[in-house]
Amino acid sequence: MRALQNFIGGAWRESRGGRVRDVNPADTAEVLAEAPASTSDEAADACEAAARAFEGWRNTPAPVRGQILFTVQRRMEERRQELAEALTREEGKTLAESRGEVQRAINVVEFFAGEARRMTGETIPSELANNFCYTVKQPVGPVGLITPWNFPVAIPVWKMAPALVSGNTVVFKPASLTPMTAALLVEIFAECDLPPGVLNLVFGGGREVGETIVRHPAIQAVSFTGSNDVGVGLYQAAAARGIKCQCEMGGKNPIVILGDADLDLAVESTVQGAFGSTGQRCTATSRAVVVETVASEFLDRLTARTESLVVGNGMDPKTNVGPSVDEKQLETVLSYVELGRTEGARLVRGGTRVRDSGLDRGFFVAPAIFDGVDADMRIAQEEIFGPVLSLIRVPDTESALRVANGVRFGLSASVYTTDVASMFRFVDRLEAGIIHVNSPTVGGEAHIPFGGMKATGVGLREMGRVAIDFYTELKVVYVDYTGGVRMTNLY
Ligand code: UN1
Repeated sequence: MRALQNFIGGAWRESRGGRVRDVNPADTAEVLAEAPASTSDEAADACEAAARAFEGWRNTPAPVRGQILFTVQRRMEERRQELAEALTREEGKTLAESRGEVQRAINVVEFFAGEARRMTGETIPSELANNFCYTVKQPVGPVGLITPWNFPVAIPVWKMAPALVSGNTVVFKPASLTPMTAALLVEIFAECDLPPGVLNLVFGGGREVGETIVRHPAIQAVSFTGSNDVGVGLYQAAAARGIKCQCEMGGKNPIVILGDADLDLAVESTVQGAFGSTGQRCTATSRAVVVETVASEFLDRLTARTESLVVGNGMDPKTNVGPSVDEKQLETVLSYVELGRTEGARLVRGGTRVRDSGLDRGFFVAPAIFDGVDADMRIAQEEIFGPVLSLIRVPDTESALRVANGVRFGLSASVYTTDVASMFRFVDRLEAGIIHVNSPTVGGEAHIPFGGMKATGVGLREMGRVAIDFYTELKVVYVDYTGGVRMTNLY
């Protein structure tokens, strides 16, 4: 068992707060680590360390900052297996999923390391003669990064890499459920010659650590991924200080299956989107909106395919679906299954706790499919964050579109059709930040923007070049070389 420490000002430091046990959700007998529940003073220490390091880091040329990230990329490649195994043991996803997540993080580091040489502005012709105008991107200052447990490697990295390459210093608060992967990540960055104080890590709860970071006068921007309740509160606190804020929150993502869809493809993608990562991703497919003519056929094939999924410990290569991350999350999933029944939906399969063959010490649940779900039932409106799919039957294409859009979230949406006109109509009208045509609602690539609309997201998109815009200020420069006084804006 590892006793984890905070990393502040370039040194691993013992916390004065209490300690929280970090257990394997597939087998709670395995205690992986103990992490500090840090005090707000310690969070403030980290903010001050980030503030002290800022001047030196913002003056380091961007390509030099990029070189450090390339070193991080190589270190992550060397330690990829260790990272993936830690991720599976701590969060529960299958080893194949963990390897995929680690690879994604590596791709993100590679992309932003390259961006270091493209921190470009633009030159803009002036209305006036002998006046040279251009823009430069400059770092915003020390930033706070607050991340969730479900992608504890990829999400911190897709915030840290653009933040650091842009010249900001960082205070990182990982989710309390996944401290071990956070410590490993920071260890990797720390091995790569980052100057002290450029990246700081503070473990602990939202109240002591998260709130201290957002309210600390040194912090100039906050990037958050997590629940709506927390995100909206954080956005308010950031707004009160007038600092930049970016929140990536819930989803209730539909897969729309039209009458002319390739059903085999649609079934496979629904399984991947709904039950992959145990449904614990904000891009998970939680609603299948299916046109009535193909709904029964789709349901039969989907049910048969879901029966073949193996629920178990993610370290076992045969496993397709790992555990819920903790008991509370498992209880949430089971209570939504119960709610679905009382709301009058028909539970076709799953939705019960799995305890057989040595799984009784983990938080396993059988992937659940509900049929006959009304679009306004709570199971079709609220984010569950578990392997629960609601099938909503609709009479035609127009009602499919209306139902798909009839939720408060708007992260991703997918449409299955072979008709070009329907495809473009859905692409145009679906209310989501990420649209997939004939592919699952999940996933994303390092160099492609990621994020949602409506209640899902606030602030600029993450990943892709646009991520740099969040972590930089745009400065505009006018250089007059007439050598004389000139009046502008006088007519
Ligand atoms: C993905 O679908 O692979 O918290 C990424 C989440 C998202 C990331 C999902 N921000 O689940």
